[in-house]
Amino acid sequence: MSFSQSFLSRMAALTSLVLPLVSAGFDPSSKTNIAVYWGQNSYGQATSQERLSYYCSNTEIDIIPIAFLLAIDTPTINVANAGNNCTTFAGTELLDCPQIEADIEECQSSYNKTIMLSIGGATYTEGGFTSSTAAIAAAQEIWAMFGPVQASSTVDRPFGDAVVDGFDFDFESVTENTAYFAAELRALMNAATAAGDKEYYLSAAPQCPYPDAADNDMLDGAVSFDFIMIQFYNNYCSISTFVAGDTAQPYFDYTTWDAWAQTVSANPNVKILVGIPANTGAGSGYTTGATLEAALQYSETFSSFGGVMMWDMSQLYANTGFLDEVAADLGSGGGSPTPTSTSKTSTTTSTTLRTSTTASATTTTLTRTSSTTLSSSSSSSSASASSTGAPVAEWGQCGGIGYTGSTVCASPYSCVCNSVWWCQCE
Ligand SMILES: *[C@@H]1O[C@H](CO)[C@@H](O)[C@H](O)[C@H]1NC(C)=O
Ligand SMILES: *[C@@H]1O[C@H](CO)[C@@H](O)[C@H](O)[C@H]1NC(C)=O
Repeated sequence: MSFSQSFLSRMAALTSLVLPLVSAGFDPSSKTNIAVYWGQNSYGQATSQERLSYYCSNTEIDIIPIAFLLAIDTPTINVANAGNNCTTFAGTELLDCPQIEADIEECQSSYNKTIMLSIGGATYTEGGFTSSTAAIAAAQEIWAMFGPVQASSTVDRPFGDAVVDGFDFDFESVTENTAYFAAELRALMNAATAAGDKEYYLSAAPQCPYPDAADNDMLDGAVSFDFIMIQFYNNYCSISTFVAGDTAQPYFDYTTWDAWAQTVSANPNVKILVGIPANTGAGSGYTTGATLEAALQYSETFSSFGGVMMWDMSQLYANTGFLDEVAADLGSGGGSPTPTSTSKTSTTTSTTLRTSTTASATTTTLTRTSSTTLSSSSSSSSASASSTGAPVAEWGQCGGIGYTGSTVCASPYSCVCNSVWWCQCE
């Protein structure tokens, strides 16, 4: 061994002593988990998204969901500019990414990161599965592609021999039979863990209005999730609407999601990560400073709170200091958390969950009859928005259920709807 090699290996040993990997990776007992989506390069510059391994040495980040597997029937991986470093499997459009394979393995083994594969995204259009049988078969195929290597399978594996730590669902349009899909993945993961494999995780990223139009099929009590990362952005309930000192919180409705965790979720110990935009252009509702700190400290008072999710890595790294700020906000909560609101109940619970405080509120009544049977009914009515009034500035709201303000955008912006709940000028 040359001098420099020996020096390097000593440095490596020293580094691992100096930087124990204690806080990396999803920790269900922690309120300081930080998840950051990687893959979509939403900042949009040619060089604003580096390869995955570039981010893994960051000790503040615990969980990286790779975005996205954006089609399941014809499996399609899209990772924006990182896809330029992939080839495709013969006769298919499916990406073959040895660099991401190496990076996932490095992030896991050297930095103890939890690497999830996020399925869906805003452009997912398959609408779920035609039947429960089709959903279960699809879950088995996705497990063969991204779970442990199966000697008997000939399926193409986009990330080679790398094995993700779990799956995240980010469906943003209405889907069918996804609960069967998620439940089958859960069963396969649990069976692998029981047979001595590592821990696997299931997460989802619903939008903040409850119940989530696209993901509720899975979230209404049929499937056990480890954590969910609620998109508190692009909506009337965005993090920016947090009112410091107001215990009622008319818009930033963590209380309802906490009630979901305690009374509806199949896993009553499920953790909730508060999802926020990582930069001004990452989504509407970007918030920083005192409001962000107050909103996170308020969220920390709930026993379900597990940390923060940010969209996305490219935006975060273009926003110098923001990750440190979020980490400091999470660390500065102080004191022991005070569990509040609903107490956990056993088998038969009926909870009325308020989803909106506007005149056109949607009221959903959920009845949990057993851990697997759940009925849900909802009704909604919309108030009418006005096509007159002052033009709305860039990123301002211009439509969505319950919105009664002006629908006219200031020039040159036009009104774009992200969901039935939220349209904005952009
Ligand atoms: C990796 O992270 C998990 C979850 O935070 C933790 O339990 C485990 O001890 C960590 N492993 C190492 C080697 O630091
Ligand atoms: C693509 O590969 C090059 C060469 O290894 C690397 O420097 C670059 O960071 C990669 N880019 C992405 C976005 O993965």
